[in-house]
Amino acid sequence: MEIKGKSAIVTGGASGLGAATAKMLLDEGAAGVVLLDIDLHGTGDKVSSELGDKAVFIKGNVVEEEPAQKAVDEALKFGPLYIVVNCAGVGTASKVVGKKGPVSLDFFKDVVDTNLTGTFNVIRLAAAKMMDNDPVGDDGERGIFINVASIAAYEGQLGQVAYSASKGGIVGMTIQLAREFAANGIRVMTIAPGIFDTPMLAALPDKVKESLGKMVPYPQRLGKPSEFASLSKHIIENSYLNGYVIRLDGAIRMAAK
Ligand SMILES: NC(=O)c1ccc[n+]([C@@H]2O[C@H](COP(=O)([O-])OP(=O)(O)OC[C@H]3O[C@@H](n4cnc5c(N)ncnc54)[C@H](O)[C@@H]3O)[C@@H](O)[C@H]2O)c1
Repeated sequence: MEIKGKSAIVTGGASGLGAATAKMLLDEGAAGVVLLDIDLHGTGDKVSSELGDKAVFIKGNVVEEEPAQKAVDEALKFGPLYIVVNCAGVGTASKVVGKKGPVSLDFFKDVVDTNLTGTFNVIRLAAAKMMDNDPVGDDGERGIFINVASIAAYEGQLGQVAYSASKGGIVGMTIQLAREFAANGIRVMTIAPGIFDTPMLAALPDKVKESLGKMVPYPQRLGKPSEFASLSKHIIENSYLNGYVIRLDGAIRMAAK
């Protein structure tokens, strides 16, 4: 599907992979992009003003109905909503049983809620509108969802129980949603990134980031947000990609620790 002239939502669009994707979409001529982001890094206004008047920043939680519906409504003001990229996510970590006993149930619920339920929440509200789109291109496409999992869906490390579960859920939804939306001409794809240099890793000292980069077989470095955006562009434009999870990870397979 051609990006030019299409309206889009990017959740988590105020930072990292989402911000790079929003920029790519506007560079490719999207009609407008809505950034739905709770703004953990305080970058929403800055990113949105750098993107220009075809970008709208909505500060809100992907898990809640009202801001997610607002994102859909704002996107529709730019034109029919054909593209949704679900990048919002958190990587909070904890062991199941620590020195003070079992971790709180709320820790697990919060991570799964944000990463998995939030992704589903935006999909359900956006899909209801996408289904009414005019079919475009040779295959009569009405839209595309790109969701973001992680290699932790497959090789979760110590402390990643909630994160791995949430990202595994996104992997599992991929083929199911692609099948359910097939009759509507809507594709669903997932990207499972390896280790990317984004504000999510900001707490790590440069030395640790460097050594993480050296763990990648090739190229021996962290991924760049522009490389994620570039894969998103290809997925949107290549109509035969559907119902699949693509690892974008330089061949890294994380060890247990
Ligand atoms: N950076 C990595 O190494 C890496 C690796 C694998 C997967 N991922 C995934 O990629 C996605 C993007 O991460 P990133 O690296 O760009 O991190 P990031 O922290 O730079 O961006 C994530 C954005 O999501 C937003 N967000 C968090 N919770 C939200 C909520 N409840 N509602 C709305 N917005 C919310 C944050 O405010 C932030 O702007 C995440 O889903 C993350 O799990 C990242």
